[in-house]
Amino acid sequence: MPALQNDTLIRALLRQPTPYTPVWLMRQAGRYLPEYKETRRRAGSFLALCKTPSLAAEATLQPVERFPLDAAILFSDILTIPDAMGLGLYFAEGEGPRFERPLRDEASVSRLRAPDPARDLRYVTDAIFETQRALAGRVPLIGFAGSPYTLACYMVEGGPSDDWHVMKTMLYSRPDLLHRLLGTNARAVADLLNAQMDAGVQAAMIFDTWGGNLSAEAYREFSLAYIAEVLSRLRRERNGIRIPVIVFTKGGGQQLEAIAASGCDCVGLDWSTSLGEARRRVGTRVALQGNLDPAVLLSSPDVVRREALRALESFGSGPGHVFNLGHGIDQLTPPENVAALIAAVHESSPKFHPQT
Ligand code: CP3
Repeated sequence: MPALQNDTLIRALLRQPTPYTPVWLMRQAGRYLPEYKETRRRAGSFLALCKTPSLAAEATLQPVERFPLDAAILFSDILTIPDAMGLGLYFAEGEGPRFERPLRDEASVSRLRAPDPARDLRYVTDAIFETQRALAGRVPLIGFAGSPYTLACYMVEGGPSDDWHVMKTMLYSRPDLLHRLLGTNARAVADLLNAQMDAGVQAAMIFDTWGGNLSAEAYREFSLAYIAEVLSRLRRERNGIRIPVIVFTKGGGQQLEAIAASGCDCVGLDWSTSLGEARRRVGTRVALQGNLDPAVLLSSPDVVRREALRALESFGSGPGHVFNLGHGIDQLTPPENVAALIAAVHESSPKFHPQT
């Protein structure tokens, strides 16, 4: 693999000095880009796109070709793991992800096994090889997986939910069963992230989209404990080079100190927690990623520039900030607002890095 021409993201994740603040966007490859819709049409479906390495690599590269982003993120989905476990993932038009065989009883949880990435998720590592060939060291490639708890939410509930009642009923009535499921998921997530690291990703992110739906105590017991277990199982190094890991719990602002102590390199923030306040709370222990409200990108380039500057000022001077949104980009986002955001971060951020 060629040496990185732009390692700003990696340096920021490790809290090393950088000349400016690096920027990438959650869901930067997706439906707001006409070229993505064209690739998806050729694939036939979102899942076929994920499972065809050449097309997944093409989708990964699209935002990097269009905008001067400081990272690419592998085009895939967190639900590939439960799909490989045999739960039967499908996407009902307009309804989001669903499983044909959700986990509803003890027998189905006991039968569950962590997939072997080399056999069951080969398309993920093949997409990484293809993407790295095409990227040719321009920017780092970020790998990812869901948190054990967020995966369990979909696996138990069978699809998205407003209140997660089926999941929470299992949590309070059969915590033993949920712990067994989370243990299996933690192994599966660690195995897949290690396979991604061996295949060549230069950073990784754990998406805990639903951890914020738990009480403070339940969050630590059922979500963060298993994220920490995943982190402890990761090799986090390839050819002697450190592979930093970001942990993002949406709605996790109250738990910042605990997340920062989980063993990650960087904590992702949604827009409900201020960057400056988060920085005061975690000190120099971890880098911070985030946290622009994705709805800002629905406005105009002027508003986008103003809000980007506000976020940079909130973090303040010094290393350890990775600019990003507080959650995935909205599909109605005009691409010119994304261009304005990236330009604003690149033009306005050098003054926050005076030492370089
Ligand atoms: O960030 C990127 O560009 C990389 C690709 C990526 C996707 N999903 C592609 C995708 C990543 C990192 C994910 C993670 C993911 N998937 C999460 C965690 C992050 C988050 O958003 O909270 C979750 C919860 C999922 C599960 C999932 N997959 C959902 C809820 C959906 C949306 C369903 C919908 O119709 O809006 C998906 C589908 C999905 N994953 C799309 C993309 C681009 C849209 C699929 C399409 O083309 O129709």
